[in-house]
Amino acid sequence: MDWLARDAAAVWHPFTQHSLWLSDEPTVVDRAEGPWLFDVDGNRYLDGISSLWVTTFGHRTPEIDAAIRSQLGRLDHATFLGATHVPGIELAERLLSVAPAAPGGPVLGKVFYAGDGSSAVEVALKMAYQHSVQAGGRGRPLFVHLQEAYHGDTLGAVSVGGISLFHAAYRPLLLRTLMVGSPGLRKPGQSAASRAEQAIAELADVMARHGDEVCAIVVEPMVQAAAGMLTYDASYLRAARRLATEHGALLICDEVATGLGRTGRMWAVSHAGVVPDLLTCGKGLTGGYLPLSAVLATNAVYESFLGSAASGRTFFHGHTYTANPLCCAAANANLELIESRGLVAQAAALGERLGSLLAPLASHDGVVEIRRLGTMTGVEVRSTGERTGAVVCRAARRHGVWLRPLGDTVVLMPPLALGPSETDLLVGALALALDEVFG
Ligand SMILES: Cc1ncc(COP(=O)(O)O)c(C=O)c1O
Repeated sequence: MDWLARDAAAVWHPFTQHSLWLSDEPTVVDRAEGPWLFDVDGNRYLDGISSLWVTTFGHRTPEIDAAIRSQLGRLDHATFLGATHVPGIELAERLLSVAPAAPGGPVLGKVFYAGDGSSAVEVALKMAYQHSVQAGGRGRPLFVHLQEAYHGDTLGAVSVGGISLFHAAYRPLLLRTLMVGSPGLRKPGQSAASRAEQAIAELADVMARHGDEVCAIVVEPMVQAAAGMLTYDASYLRAARRLATEHGALLICDEVATGLGRTGRMWAVSHAGVVPDLLTCGKGLTGGYLPLSAVLATNAVYESFLGSAASGRTFFHGHTYTANPLCCAAANANLELIESRGLVAQAAALGERLGSLLAPLASHDGVVEIRRLGTMTGVEVRSTGERTGAVVCRAARRHGVWLRPLGDTVVLMPPLALGPSETDLLVGALALALDEVFG
């Protein structure tokens, strides 16, 4: 059966230049188990990017499988408009019980569900704007966001994005925003703290000039993931928190990529001791099984939406499958396992192991820089012309590891429960691939 020919004849893939699709030798995935993917020819690959940053424990985790099956025997779907259900209520309680908190900081007290990461970002943007209207002003129409940011592909999320390759084509369609420099873009030899200081000065200046029109500052906390795992200093996040508060704006932290253990903490904001007004999460929320995302909102934001039916304060937003019970059941099982197995500590240890295994590669002729926070790792390779990152990933696949690059940055982002021998294989395959490509 020529699945690839049938695919090429019928399917349009995301983020894919289809004139190159077949020459990129796509994998036809047949099944998966733990950290392994198997293709239709029976070849086995280590899933080095957690199936685009979602797989938490591994594929087909028995406890999550069982939770979905059990939910399936009870309730497949019911609308969350005018009705509620047990898995949706329990998941909100669970999320709030692990939400970031700091003494004297804002209190995240309500959960609004969405579908994918992008739709959670849309929710947060609309909430922030409407909140600015309801908080007693004339409404603040501007969002401040970072250069090199990525928050998803719907138009609101694209508006607060800052990656030209992905976003420039859509600029004429977008919301009004102010883009500030990325704290993660350092000059060679520049320290993270020094770059953060410059970027804070720019943010402070923009807020001083436009702050009264800004409803929210939007950031990916600590790591700008899709930009190639650009890590930055925690001082920037603390400054963004302070400046947002000083100017009456909200701080939106998009934890879709960083949340739920990926950085070695439950939330990336905890590296800075910051609590945002709105926190988005998605990706690994269901353990990598099903699309579900959420926005955690402070009580203060939530309360500004209360009023009579005629007050105009209702949040007119929702999706047909909001809080789908099967998704919620998967997420409940995933969060329960994260806690009972101490997965966040395991993820921190996995990150350290990755760091020490990768350290010798920092001086490899083909490596420009290795960036990492917890398990979120980017190995930037020297460009040899066309799509070097993709060439390295194809070579790694020949050594049994499935990776996908971001430009010339090879991403390693394995399932958080990856064992030591698989971690060795992951880094070993990358090392062999680098030797082959730059040998
Ligand atoms: C920080 C961040 N926000 C939002 C998104 C969009 O999530 P989704 O692809 O589920 O819409 C992503 C996806 O990579 C992301 O990294």
